[in-house]
Amino acid sequence: MINNIVIMNRVKSLRNVNVSGKRVLIRVDFNVPMDAQFNISDDSRIRAALPTINYCIDNDAHFIILVSHLGRPKNGYDERYTLKHIQKRLENLIQKRVEFMDDLETLKSQNVQDCAKRIFLLENVRFNEGEKKNDPEFSKRLASLCDIYVNDAFGTSHRREASNYGIADFVKTKVAGFLMVKEIEAFAKALEKPIRPTALIVGGSKVSSKITLLSSIMPKIDKLVIGGAMSNTFLQALGYDMKASLVEPDFIETAKEVLEEAKQHNVSVYLPVDLVIADSIDHPVVIEVAPIQDVLDGFHAVDIGPATLKLFSEVIELSNTIIWNGPMGIYEKSQFSKGTFKLATTIADSYAYSIIGGGDTADAVEKAGEKDKFSFVSTGGGASLELLEGKILPGFEKLDIKEEG
Ligand code: ADP
Ligand code: 3PG
Ligand code: MG
Repeated sequence: MINNIVIMNRVKSLRNVNVSGKRVLIRVDFNVPMDAQFNISDDSRIRAALPTINYCIDNDAHFIILVSHLGRPKNGYDERYTLKHIQKRLENLIQKRVEFMDDLETLKSQNVQDCAKRIFLLENVRFNEGEKKNDPEFSKRLASLCDIYVNDAFGTSHRREASNYGIADFVKTKVAGFLMVKEIEAFAKALEKPIRPTALIVGGSKVSSKITLLSSIMPKIDKLVIGGAMSNTFLQALGYDMKASLVEPDFIETAKEVLEEAKQHNVSVYLPVDLVIADSIDHPVVIEVAPIQDVLDGFHAVDIGPATLKLFSEVIELSNTIIWNGPMGIYEKSQFSKGTFKLATTIADSYAYSIIGGGDTADAVEKAGEKDKFSFVSTGGGASLELLEGKILPGFEKLDIKEEG
């Protein structure tokens, strides 16, 4: 079996090149959540890029260009998605002036000699239609701005776009930033050299989007804990009537196959034994705890119940490596968040190596106030999921390879 982590681990890192006097373009992922007034609600991704940016500053790069996307703009400029929203926070974090550049041409028109020691932040790269299309002409224009390309946008590394993928075809020196390396090392610790037993905890809303993950990861785990809406489909597959709960009927057979695969790999499976059920998700009047065989007509399973929490906590306490992807319930609503938040605390307080992949799961542990106690919280949502699925992430594909020995 080709191992995706081993392959991604072979890329050359920023540490292996000399940036002194060089024009350095860093692809970062500053796609951060913001409120309606454009206040950044979680700047983890900006902070995570600081080691790479500071390293280039400290090692005398001639100048630094920071390139990122923000959101999913459809037709060119859209003020909701301008990276101007990020500029101040970035300046505060690196304690240096950051010059905002509206577009590539303005940046190109700068006299290179005058740019010494300057840091530029380029406007949202997705305002250019060539970005998402991975247009080689656009990649070439971006590439012409630098001598060294550093990809540190782990959160974007499952995409094949011009600034995180195509550009590498046109730059001689292309390396991984420190965040990219750190993410791979963290996952390697959980998947390549884990202290077993290893538990995978999965939840969230869709079996369909996580099914590849379950099959490919099976040989690397000892226990599989399933909660959230994911477990509804599994429970239905086992003959329980989940009533109005979110179930994916097309995946009942797949759920049965997963349970069979688990048996073949000697993986113990833990499903909820009780659930929090509600008569409505948006305007609940009745909220109860019910054993899995007693979900009431018209009710939705919205969280794991207290007996399940106890069961899952015991599994956690007996595991040395824990990989968690997917909340245990509709954690965005306070009445339905207890299972997810308490599980977060149990994992945070355990002695296990604990790693989180998944945008909503990372958000949930942050809201639970436990984020700092996890061994590693990935900055990738989709990217970490695809990594766990065993894929080689495109963002690593075209980077230089480390010299042997
Ligand atoms: P991640 O982003 O961490 O990979 P997902 O996107 O797969 O996680 O799942 C998160 C979503 O799953 C949340 O919006 C949450 O409300 C939803 N969810 C969890 N449990 C349930 C449930 N029982 N019924 C409906 N939605 C659920
Ligand atoms: C993310 O938030 O997952 C990354 O920044 C990628 O964004 P995208 O899903 O819009 O490509
Ligand atoms: Mg999600």
